[in-house]
Amino acid sequence: MKWGDKMSRFIVRIGIVVIVICSVLAAVIGNQSMRGAGKGLDEAAWRQGLRLFEDNESEKSIGPFRKAIGGVFAGAALGEIKIGVELGKQGKKDEAEELLRSMFDDEATAARARYELAGIYEATGRKLEAAQLLHDAIVVILNKGAEYVGIGVCKKCHLKQYMSWKKTTMARTFDVLKPGNAIEAKKKADLDPKTDYTKEPACLPCHTTGYGLPGGYEIPSAGDAKVAKIAKANEGTTCEACHGPGSEYVAPHADVADKKRKYSANEFYDAGMVRIDAAVCTTCHNRRNPTAAPDFRFDYEQSKDMGSHKNYPLKYRTD
Ligand code: HEC
Ligand code: HEC
Ligand code: HEC
Ligand code: HEC
Repeated sequence: MKWGDKMSRFIVRIGIVVIVICSVLAAVIGNQSMRGAGKGLDEAAWRQGLRLFEDNESEKSIGPFRKAIGGVFAGAALGEIKIGVELGKQGKKDEAEELLRSMFDDEATAARARYELAGIYEATGRKLEAAQLLHDAIVVILNKGAEYVGIGVCKKCHLKQYMSWKKTTMARTFDVLKPGNAIEAKKKADLDPKTDYTKEPACLPCHTTGYGLPGGYEIPSAGDAKVAKIAKANEGTTCEACHGPGSEYVAPHADVADKKRKYSANEFYDAGMVRIDAAVCTTCHNRRNPTAAPDFRFDYEQSKDMGSHKNYPLKYRTD
């Protein structure tokens, strides 16, 4: 074999190795950006929309939210969702809404049904609700199918943190919506102290956990025991409001509890538990809060140890 042949084979081999390495890298990087966001989600547009949304500029957030999610739903709607969209086009708004809402808890349709209903709301001038639904559709994608399981599940294994949480204002954020409570704060914010705000969709996303999202708080109606139970388990700012919806990450927690084995927090984060930072708090501590000043800014450093476990010392982990 000539030296030239050997050389060209060597080059081909190197070429193959490089291609393999590149495709592995591409897969890993692709996977990570999927982990960070949903597939096709425009993260910059999401952040831009979120800033406007949290600054109480809901109408302006619609554009960026649409841009953020547009790539995910580029194809036409299918199946029952398509029927819902058609009903909307025919002006049968109530039927469209009922059908689309019935698909809100099913993982396969949860994001798209919200997205399409947002379109119907937008077309009928219900801009605030459209913004909320687009926001929720993106959160559903980011949560990757995780659902809220309710505080009773966490309490079973984390009694100390539960007892600590119970003593904080976080545990009572639902009660302030009841008539006759927090009278001064309501008067100051031009809210009526005699009104019952516990069924008011404009208040519930921040005074309950997971309102409008799969498994999260639902407004109870007379005689529906199942919904009453879900409501009770998600009243106030519970564990999952900060640590994220638990349906996926509870399993590895239970495994650690069963086997009494070593673990790293990353294992839980990989299963969907949220790494807590200021962004978690500002989903509620923002200018949409009617009791906040118009120039309100959340001070994370000052608040982070007060809100949740102030009566039970936090063991900050470093891994
Ligand atoms: C079956 C028991 C069990 C359930 C249910 C459970 N956990 Fe855990 N969790 C554990 C165990 C065990 C650990 C490991 C640390 C320890 O022993 O406290 C842990 C650790 C944690 C940590 C600390 C992770 C770290 O940084 O080390 C958080 C936060 C947490 N759980 C939140 C929750 C929340 C929120 C829920 C409810 C959605 C929940 N857990 C449900 C057993 C459980
Ligand atoms: C965007 C989230 C958000 C929305 C929406 C929201 N709130 Fe709040 N609310 C908060 C936060 C956060 C606080 C706590 C502010 C603080 O103490 O720093 C708060 C505090 C309050 C307080 C004061 C409680 C006290 O003990 O002094 C009242 C009363 C209240 N909210 C009522 C309402 C009502 C009624 C609505 C609906 C009309 C509503 N909120 C909608 C986030 C929200
Ligand atoms: C207001 C937000 C908030 C709420 C509500 C909350 N936590 Fe936490 N939790 C935190 C923060 C912040 C940490 C510090 C560690 C971190 O950054 O993840 C933490 C840490 C923990 C830890 C690990 C450290 C420790 O103290 O053992 C556990 C376990 C935990 N939380 C469980 C719970 C449970 C159970 C509930 C509900 C009863 C709950 N948390 C409610 C914010 C919250
Ligand atoms: C789901 C919404 C929600 C989330 C998420 C949330 N909070 Fe709150 N928080 C509230 C509401 C509502 C109140 C008002 C409670 C009241 O006054 O009755 C509150 C009250 C507080 C208070 C008490 C304020 C006071 O003046 O007594 C602190 C401190 C606080 N939150 C810190 C945090 C921190 C830190 C985080 C993030 C780790 C966080 N919160 C996440 C809704 C939330």
